[in-house]
This record gives sequence, C-alpha cells and structure tokens, in this order.
Amino acid sequence: MRRFEGQVVVVTGAGRGIGRATAERFGAEGAQLALVSDQAEDLAQASEAMLAQGFELLAIQADISDPAQVERAVERTMERFGRIDVLVNNAGIAWEEPFLDIADANWQRIISVNLNGMFYMAQRVSRHMAKQRSGCILNMASTNGLVGEEKYAHYNASKGGVVLLTKTMALELGRYGIRVNAVCPGYIQTPMSEAIDDPEFVAAYAKDKIPLGRVGKTKDVAGVFAFLASEDAAFMTGECLVVDGGQLSS
Ligand SMILES: NC(=O)c1ccc[n+]([C@@H]2O[C@H](COP(=O)([O-])OP(=O)(O)OC[C@H]3O[C@@H](n4cnc5c(N)ncnc54)[C@H](O)[C@@H]3O)[C@@H](O)[C@H]2O)c1
Repeated sequence: MRRFEGQVVVVTGAGRGIGRATAERFGAEGAQLALVSDQAEDLAQASEAMLAQGFELLAIQADISDPAQVERAVERTMERFGRIDVLVNNAGIAWEEPFLDIADANWQRIISVNLNGMFYMAQRVSRHMAKQRSGCILNMASTNGLVGEEKYAHYNASKGGVVLLTKTMALELGRYGIRVNAVCPGYIQTPMSEAIDDPEFVAAYAKDKIPLGRVGKTKDVAGVFAFLASEDAAFMTGECLVVDGGQLSS
C-alpha cells in the first residue's frame, strides 16, 4: 500500500525507537518525511537508512522543548515541502523515580519535553494546517496517561496532559479539517524501555501482565499511527487508541 503518496509527514523523535519505525512505515507508503530529533548521531543513522530505501526526507536536529527550535524546524519543513499533511508528535522521555524523591528539575524536564514540546509542535504545525484546511495530528500518549504507575508521577502527569490536549485540539480544529488523535501504547520494546528494565523483568512482565503474552514491537505502534493518518480513519478525531496487548482490559 502507498496510502501517503504526495503527503508530507513530520515525525519527532524519529532517530530511534517508535519514531524511527513510524517514519519508516510512512516512507514505505510513499510519504515525504521530515525527521526531527535532538540526537544528531541517531538522526544521521536513521536518515542514512531511510535514504538507502529511496525515501525523500529532510533531517532536522531540534529540541522540541525549545519553542524557537520548534518554529525553525516547522519553517524548514515548509520551505522544503510547502505543506504538512501529518504530524506524528512522538518524541518523549521517561525514567523511574519515586514520587517522594522527584527533584524539581527532573519534574520540569519531563513536562517540558513530553507536554510543552508536544504543544509547541502541535500548535505551530496546526497553524499551517488551518490555512491548508486539512491535516492530521497524532500525539504520542501512553497507557500511563490513562492509569497510574508507581515511580512515574512526572511521566504519568505528562501523558495524562497529552490525552486532554488531544481531545481539546480535536474540538477546536475540526472546523479547519484537522483531525487530532492520540495513541496510548503499553509496554513497547525500544531503546527507552531497554534503558529502564532488564530482559528478565520484561519476560516476567509479558507473561504476568499482558494477555497476548509479549511486549509490543515498534511496528505495532507504527501501524496504528499509519491507520489513524489514513482515509480509513477519516471520521475519527479526539480518540485515544490503546495499543497494549490487552493489558488495560482488566
Ligand atoms: N517504549 C514504551 O514502552 C512506550 C510506551 C508508551 C509510550 N511511549 C512513548 O513513545 C514515544 C517514543 O518512545 P520510545 O520508546 O521510542 O523512546 P526512545 O527513547 O527510543 O526514542 C525517543 C526519541 O525521542 C527523541 N527525543 C527525546 N527528547 C527529545 C527532544 N527534547 N527533542 C527532540 N527529540 C527528542 C530521542 O532522541 C529519540 O529519538 C515517547 O513519547 C514515549 O513516552 C513509549
């Protein structure tokens, strides 16, 4: 399928993990890509691999928690491609920290990337989409935005914020032809989760907590982003789709 031929798709956090897999999925379906990441080396590796697959792309190093860098990234995308059809607002950070020990600077860093950064990107891109009278914004939330998990108060708060940011954007932007949805993954195997948990923990977690008996792969989430951006989801907005192997079913 080449559902995104002629469409321009911006993916943040595209250097690795879910963002990279999502950019590869959209590229394979014909999209022109703007890859955004704060990490130059990851970005260069991901871009090289995608150029080798014949994708048309622009790689932009930017920290989404800085509004000036976000504005420049959006401007560069518009200069190169002239429009933005889809934003996959994916970049985020996470680490474990007991609530009583969270340092103010750590609280602020997680909120500034996961919530403020997502707002800056979404708003700056939506302004162009509103002029186009079309567009699709996909925000990366988490099951941690729907239910709590110990030792992640800052992360849970940021993702809960993304869920209601998504719903409010859907209410205000529908009149411009812009759909806004979120994806709430459960446990996905990525460099982020590998940095937090060892393989024994992950195996036990999959067996005990996830009805499908495995943790997610990056492509499990990439496929849902592609569905939400496609014509098959043309009447969906303000939705938060859970992709968790059934974990939240109990
Ligand atoms: N892995 C999981 O189990 C899981 C579950 C639910 C939600 N998520 C969310 O999915 C998203 C991607 O996570 P992942 O597991 O692929 O993580 P990852 O750490 O493997 O990748 C995150 C990417 O975001 C980039 N990034 C981080 N901070 C940035 C910033 N300030 N500016 C620009 N880019 C930045 C990183 O460089 C990296 O490329 C995050 O928002 C995360 O919260 C992950």
